[in-house]
Amino acid sequence: MSDVDTGFLRSLPKAELHLHLEGTLEPELMFQLAERNDITLPYSDVEALRDAYEFGNLQDFLDLYYQGAGVLQTEQDFYDLTWAYLERCAADGVVHVEPFFDPQTHTARSIPMSVQFRGITRALNDGQEKLGISSRLILCFLRHLSEEDAFTTLQQALPWREHFFAVGLDSGEKGNPPAKFQRVFDEVHKLGLKIVAHAGEEGPADYIWQALNLLKVQRVDHGVRCTEDPALVQRLNDTQMPLTVCPLSNTRLKVFTDMSEHNIMQLLEQGLCVTINSDDPAYFGGYLLDNYLAVRDALGMTKAQAIQLARNSFTASFLSEEEKAGHLATLDKLA
Ligand code: ADE
Ligand code: ZN
Repeated sequence: MSDVDTGFLRSLPKAELHLHLEGTLEPELMFQLAERNDITLPYSDVEALRDAYEFGNLQDFLDLYYQGAGVLQTEQDFYDLTWAYLERCAADGVVHVEPFFDPQTHTARSIPMSVQFRGITRALNDGQEKLGISSRLILCFLRHLSEEDAFTTLQQALPWREHFFAVGLDSGEKGNPPAKFQRVFDEVHKLGLKIVAHAGEEGPADYIWQALNLLKVQRVDHGVRCTEDPALVQRLNDTQMPLTVCPLSNTRLKVFTDMSEHNIMQLLEQGLCVTINSDDPAYFGGYLLDNYLAVRDALGMTKAQAIQLARNSFTASFLSEEEKAGHLATLDKLA
């Protein structure tokens, strides 16, 4: 069967479920915001910054990502960041987004939660009004920090409870297992929030088990190392637990040596609920459509497989059953 064409993939309605807003900070915007906020970046220009985007592993990337986020200071900065991402979504046929943000990265620099929430929420509301893109915001705890710090962050976010829908867990995975955050996620659950967690990106399959059994996640972010444990793959398939896979991220961070080695299409063919996402597109060389194209070009993708991936992105979302049904009906007409 022949591969699906680019125009079809662009027009295919899609949801993005694994996207860090701070990871959409393009070098051009980083320099603009640095100038606006009187900050000196340790790079001479945009090219020098882009040249630094060579990562040997997740931590190499995170060091640059947290440094870059330092230019975000005002409500307007958070608005501009989020709005620029939504415009990319509109161009890529993305109709629903569930973006992450990392409040601790900003509160640690004395940027209040109110500034972050106001800027991001205003842009997401404009995204719905002006671009027709729906959204559900996800607040993430940084796992390299303590559980106590996560509890404090949750407390600080409570006044903004109606502005976020779920809580996630990100940052350096190795040595920071989900078990470290079990009690704070119990609290998250009691508040009626949904739960997601990065697991099985650089960390072992056991961290995916912990995310399922201890944190009681509704989705696993990445999860690609599940293939190291056949019983885990079986469980993920039996429960149709969604995996938010990020192909360009995985190759740029050396989780897979080359896209031709990536296991996403193998997992899709086994029946798992895998989705394609861009993670930190400004750092990894592409937004959502670029990720679909990279997978197609390296691994092959039929029209039916593309539609299945788009279907998975809606079934795995936090949209209501009625909203999901609307998107799935649109996809059925393309089959
Ligand atoms: N924060 C931003 N991107 C991340 C990733 N791929 N893994 C863990 N934490 C992150
Ligand atoms: Zn991520």
